[in-house]
Amino acid sequence: MNIILLGPPGAGKGTQAQRLVRERDMMQLSTGDMLREARTSGTEMGKVVADVMDKGHLVTDEIVIGLIKEKLESGGHPGGFIFDGFPRTLAQADALGQLLQDEGQSLDHVIEMQVDDDALVARITGRSTCANCGEVFHDVTKPVPEDGKCPNCGGTSFKRRADDTEEALKTRLLAYYKQTSPLIGYYYAKGKLSVVDGLASMDDVSAAIAKVLGGA
Ligand code: AP5
Repeated sequence: MNIILLGPPGAGKGTQAQRLVRERDMMQLSTGDMLREARTSGTEMGKVVADVMDKGHLVTDEIVIGLIKEKLESGGHPGGFIFDGFPRTLAQADALGQLLQDEGQSLDHVIEMQVDDDALVARITGRSTCANCGEVFHDVTKPVPEDGKCPNCGGTSFKRRADDTEEALKTRLLAYYKQTSPLIGYYYAKGKLSVVDGLASMDDVSAAIAKVLGGA
């Protein structure tokens, strides 16, 4: 089963993708994570994307489509793929459809995670991630355990993202509404769209997604 998690920055896409990886043996393909990895690699591409990401703008379609193409061409995954943060433009959506078709695969569900913009500032500015495994935490709603160890991998180092500022969030939100939100109509017209309340508790969001996907 291949699915897209669609929603603005802070909607909870990464959080729910990590749960699906554990519960359904799916593979998370996060273009944000791939780009963050590229920027630390010191390559030319990494230098180009670092500045764009920190300001909250979108990286070019060519770069992100190339990253996804590479992953899809390296083979399928038994539980299927979760596209997290991709596609983000109509050109990326068209490219994904073609890439899946080329690999003899299909897209099963697009899940829009609806949230209130006002909630996003608190979510984004309170976020941290495990430096070792990428597990997502929040200062209030999912704090790092008191023993300072990541419950997923035991890591003891946690980091915050350079683009998790109120200023960059405004640009990221604008990019979402201008460039990504047209995908809601695009996938609705294709009969793939389902909507969940992203403001519910993490467990309730997981339950709503499970209902869409079928099974527990
Ligand atoms: P990316 O890394 O994709 O970031 P994003 O889409 O802005 O989304 P986030 O990761 O910020 O939020 P999320 O929805 O995953 O929320 P999370 O689960 O962490 O992209 C970063 C940048 O890379 C872009 O700005 C762009 O420059 C570039 N880029 C990436 N993909 C691209 C593409 N395809 N094309 C072009 N450029 C691209 O949750 C947020 C916080 O809330 C956490 O602290 C979490 O613990 C908490 N939380 C989650 N769910 C709940 C809940 N239900 N209740 C309470 N708290 C919750």
